[in-house]
Amino acid sequence: MAGLFEKQAEDYLNARPTYPKEWYSKLAALTHHRNLAWDVGTGNGQAALGVAEHFDQVIGTDISEAQIQRAMPHPRVQYIHTPSTFTDEEIISLFGGENSVDLITVAQAIHWFDLPSFYSLVSRLLRKPGGLFAVWCYNGMRVSPTFDPLVMKFYETTIPFWNSDSNHAFDGYKTLPFPFESVGLGSEGNPLALDMSRELSFEGFLSTLRSWSAVNTAKDQGLDLLNEKVVKEFENEWGGSNLVRSVSYKAFMLVGKVKN
Ligand SMILES: C[S@@+](CC[C@H](N)C(=O)[O-])C[C@H]1O[C@@H](n2cnc3c(N)ncnc32)[C@H](O)[C@@H]1O
Repeated sequence: MAGLFEKQAEDYLNARPTYPKEWYSKLAALTHHRNLAWDVGTGNGQAALGVAEHFDQVIGTDISEAQIQRAMPHPRVQYIHTPSTFTDEEIISLFGGENSVDLITVAQAIHWFDLPSFYSLVSRLLRKPGGLFAVWCYNGMRVSPTFDPLVMKFYETTIPFWNSDSNHAFDGYKTLPFPFESVGLGSEGNPLALDMSRELSFEGFLSTLRSWSAVNTAKDQGLDLLNEKVVKEFENEWGGSNLVRSVSYKAFMLVGKVKN
């Protein structure tokens, strides 16, 4: 799985959004303590940095070394590469033992995980009572009524190359198993719908597409989906390569605590 994210690590850093500040203040307000947080599948720290605004210490882990190497530094965030050979006991020891983590976040990543074994680890690590577990994903980038159909057309060319794990993200986590007790911010089968937006350069937009695992899988199979002709078409409709545009996304969140 790590291989899917190694090659596009540089594009991730340039392209992937960070998340609205209010999300973190809401999550922090619901935890009993704010000592230690774990951001899993941290990528380049896109969520870890926001979490660090509210917690004394954040550990960001990722299965991909290339992602961790490009992680954005922060004095309260420690990034650790956790290859798939890492055992649960090794991960638990990073936090000093079970029952020690106040907030666990997984941004745009849980659909890649082995859920039963990850959920068992979450239940062991979360502080009880009071520890919180939050996952979210986003999809449906929107630029304008004339630009969006081009993205949809491009997306359709990528469909054969997505790993089936991505389906959970495409359906906005509606079918993601989430056996945790709801705290009013989404629940299993009923994720909380949120909006996010950002400013994006044309190069940033292209990096976003290049960071899609399906685009890289196609490339590995000798198919350059994002070829010159496609890029030119995007550029014309974007309004030129120097323009920075507002882009919005739909996001879906599930937050819970360990059931008694
Ligand atoms: C789409 S990126 C999201 C990165 C970042 N959290 C964000 O919000 O942009 C998914 C990340 O999950 C990582 N990942 C995939 N499977 C993993 C696993 N089993 N354990 C830890 N990280 C994993 C990938 O290496 C990648 O960095």
